[in-house]
Amino acid sequence: MNFKGSIRSKLPTVGTTIFTVMSAYAREHDAINLSQGFPDFQPHPLLVSEVEQAMKSGFNQYAPMAGLITLREGIAAKVQSLYKADVDPNAEITITAGGTQALFTAIAAMISENDEVILFSPAYDSYAPAVELAGGKTIHYNMEAPDFSINWKQVQKLITQRTRMIVINTPHNPTATTLSEKDMKELIKLTKDSDIIILSDEVYEHIVFDGAEHQSVLRYPALAERSMVVGSFGKTYHATGWKVGYCIAPRELTTEFRKVHQFNVFSVSTPMQHAYAEILKHPELYLDLGTFYQQKRDFFRNAIKGSKFELLDTKGSYFQLVSYKNISEEKDTDFVMWLTREWKVAAIPVSVFYHRHLDQKVIRFCFAKENETLEKAAERLCKIK
Ligand SMILES: Cc1ncc(COP(=O)(O)O)c(C=O)c1O
Repeated sequence: MNFKGSIRSKLPTVGTTIFTVMSAYAREHDAINLSQGFPDFQPHPLLVSEVEQAMKSGFNQYAPMAGLITLREGIAAKVQSLYKADVDPNAEITITAGGTQALFTAIAAMISENDEVILFSPAYDSYAPAVELAGGKTIHYNMEAPDFSINWKQVQKLITQRTRMIVINTPHNPTATTLSEKDMKELIKLTKDSDIIILSDEVYEHIVFDGAEHQSVLRYPALAERSMVVGSFGKTYHATGWKVGYCIAPRELTTEFRKVHQFNVFSVSTPMQHAYAEILKHPELYLDLGTFYQQKRDFFRNAIKGSKFELLDTKGSYFQLVSYKNISEEKDTDFVMWLTREWKVAAIPVSVFYHRHLDQKVIRFCFAKENETLEKAAERLCKIK
């Protein structure tokens, strides 16, 4: 069929994501894949057996549009105990097909033609295309290596009459930084007396290190009342392929969110929801996640300490950024290809997370891997001169 140019791409600048490209390149070169952000270990056996149990018990048809009420109640109880947040499971929580769908639906529901959305770059790659598809305009604040901190006075300058939304992400992918209590107070000041919505991507909420507390917007009533919080069970329970997440938002925002959700996904896998409702009754599984990943972080950092890579701080998430400026002057997009081809370790170049591809000679490794995998990768990285 020849469409004779009649197809006008809605996302003309978007190609295949770097994650797909790097994973394919890693396979092609038989490299250890520390590029894409997923664990190479299995979910807790209890979670798997709960799914099987749910299927055998006949929970195989459509779940309610907003999600199983038992699961929503479990989430409400969790955020009450962790963040002292009062969330109504009936009117303020919706179960989604992963965090990405929750982000997309929140943006589709809230952003109209010419609305401005402030993004902090480097940023998870789904935010900007979702804004563009909704007809909105992305406004970028650049956070820069090595600490990627935010100067809130500069952010203030980006706010206009058209600012509809600010997207935050803590712990942060790809920088592994976290927002502090001070940042959250600045955000309160910034949005006070406005009707700006905050889209808060908290999919790594349980992966916070060195005794720090996760700064959920739900801890702050002045933020919670204007926020849509996105969570992902895939990140918390080592089951990224199951694609179950949720959105917590005040009633008025949830009503609009569900209008879009019901015609996009309608409802999410029933047996998985049953299993997650059961596993939430074991808080130790998510409460221990920070310690579990902190050990992996320390193991990996220690293993590459003797290499020529410079380690940046890792405060949360399961990513480790390194600078390779002592090894090469190459662009980060070329460097990761070379690293994969010649040293058989795949990583993600951080420039791709920037609107204007800012190259700071920094790449991202994912350490959600078995120690054996990390050790093997580290051995190779340490040999690079
Ligand atoms: C910052 C961030 N938000 C959202 C997601 C998506 O989560 P899910 O796999 O549940 O769609 C990811 C996954 O990598 C992520 O890193």
